Amino acid sequence: MRVVAPAKINRSLYIVGKRPDGYHDLATTAAFTEFGDVLAFEPSDLLTVVSQGEFAGAIGKSADNLVVKAAQALNQRADTQYGARITLTKNIPVGAGLGGGSADAAAALKALNDFWRLGFSFDQLCEIGATLGSDVPMCLHSVPLVARGRGEVIVPINGPFETAWFVLVHPRIALLTKDVFARVRPEVYERAHFAAPQPESGEFEVNHLQEAAIELCPEIAMILAALKRHGKHASEMRMTGSGTCCYALFYDKSEAEECFASMQAHHPKWWVKLTKAEL
Ligand code: C5P
Repeated sequence: MRVVAPAKINRSLYIVGKRPDGYHDLATTAAFTEFGDVLAFEPSDLLTVVSQGEFAGAIGKSADNLVVKAAQALNQRADTQYGARITLTKNIPVGAGLGGGSADAAAALKALNDFWRLGFSFDQLCEIGATLGSDVPMCLHSVPLVARGRGEVIVPINGPFETAWFVLVHPRIALLTKDVFARVRPEVYERAHFAAPQPESGEFEVNHLQEAAIELCPEIAMILAALKRHGKHASEMRMTGSGTCCYALFYDKSEAEECFASMQAHHPKWWVKLTKAEL
């Protein structure tokens, strides 16, 4: 059994307020790309995860891996001790705001629920997923959506969809989500709170984490400036999630290809990827 865990792109991310539990309430619009990590599952008595691929070296020891945690959470909830040999091909940069770890966890929850014939409903998987990370329920949906609360209150966006092309650029520098949230000044979102953000309205213009992420990683501002130069026809460009990856969005494939080739040629040290998504 082999599944793709699509990367997540936050097209907007509003912080609505800080919660007593230390998390932030959000209103975010997310899309999922064709590109992602790949997980393969084989029968085994033991539970093991082997990582390979470009970013395999960047993920923590296996016990910290969200795939292991997802499998353990399923076994615990089902009161079972099933095993599987899982091979994770880590194509999504780590600490990039592309939800890679959450996408892996979501893909593992869905696949192992079938592989082990546990029979959990989609809602139950979302509930288990939310205990693993704020973005896991979003990644279980993996369709264009608006998420609120910590990220777990999800409303899928209705189609019809059209194909959009994304040029993703990552400085090969990782940030921890908690560090970025910790650096956001309340003034950044208090103003927006009064403006009552409605990402459903189709306005995609803000990532409240961007300024704080740039303070921690100035390369993000360099990437955005380079995307402006090399992607003049982009419909949108912004940082995704808590960074450090940025995207430029095109509805025209050849314009996206031009931007991609130009970014690759001028910035060989950055990770640059061309992919598509239904929006
Ligand atoms: O839920 P997750 O483990 O992915 O979150 C990582 C960190 O990001 C949290 O510990 C918290 O500091 C921050 N966070 C937040 N509000 C959210 C999601 C994450 O403050 N809605």
